Amino acid sequence: MVELDPDPTDGGGATPLISFRGVRKAFGPKVIYEDATLDVFAGETLTILGGSGTGKSVLIKMLIGLLRADGGSIQAFGQEVTTLPERGLLDIRKRIAMLFQSAALFDSLTVEQNIKYPLREHHWGTEPAMNERVAEVLEMVGMEGSQKLKPSELSGGMRKRVGLARAIAMKPEVILYDEPTTGLDPVNVRRINGLILSLQARLGVTSIVVTHDMDSCFTVSDRIAMLYERRIAFVGTAEATQECDIPYVREFTRGGKGTLDADVV
Ligand SMILES: Nc1ncnc2c1ncn2[C@@H]1O[C@H](COP(=O)(O)OP(=O)(O)O)[C@@H](O)[C@H]1O
Ligand SMILES: [Mg+2]
Repeated sequence: MVELDPDPTDGGGATPLISFRGVRKAFGPKVIYEDATLDVFAGETLTILGGSGTGKSVLIKMLIGLLRADGGSIQAFGQEVTTLPERGLLDIRKRIAMLFQSAALFDSLTVEQNIKYPLREHHWGTEPAMNERVAEVLEMVGMEGSQKLKPSELSGGMRKRVGLARAIAMKPEVILYDEPTTGLDPVNVRRINGLILSLQARLGVTSIVVTHDMDSCFTVSDRIAMLYERRIAFVGTAEATQECDIPYVREFTRGGKGTLDADVV
């Protein structure tokens, strides 16, 4: 867990690890971002909320250069990502891992081969060192012994956990989770939420989580950012969502775990 800060909405005056400044992005005539500004601080878990198709995935893809911003600045670890050539982006992707919405495992490869894929790509180490790392990360996600299985032999929850094992194999400093609990049953939702929290606690990683699930949001987040009208309309704690002067933000987050707890108190 990160140290509790008296005002967690300002990062305690710290330099952000990641920052978006006046980011613009459109696909043809369709404007996704007009002026997106957001800071992410080391060690925090920040959740991005927003309606379907508002640009949540686009935002985190721009951060690792899978999509290019049209304007504005995106910085990670003090580097400007928007103008970084492909080679530099590979370095960024070593430090910022993404758990894709679909887990994006290669069906023809075993669990072990899937996890070794990025390790090989980044010349991570010898075969025995990679085997050891595979065993380690599978244990972290509670999938020990599943090296030789194929994705088709796994449930949706297990696939997400293997996807997460693959994402953390490179020892990233930042993990991006794109809808990590969507389509999972409640047991697996809790398990994934628990993993997000324990990775933050055990590895001290910084996390950006995109979710639709308000309970997950209130369970894992230190702060919440909400997309609305082509910008980041709100950033703050779970409790602060209910005091936001934008009705949409209050509506969207109402009924989440934190707001329910607040009602009972
Ligand atoms: N590569 C792309 N080319 C064209 N349009 C895209 C592309 N990626 C996303 N979009 C569009 O941008 C909008 C935001 O997408 P996305 O970020 O995936 O939404 P969500 O908030 O549901 O994650 C959607 O309307 C989507 O159709
Ligand atoms: Mg998405």
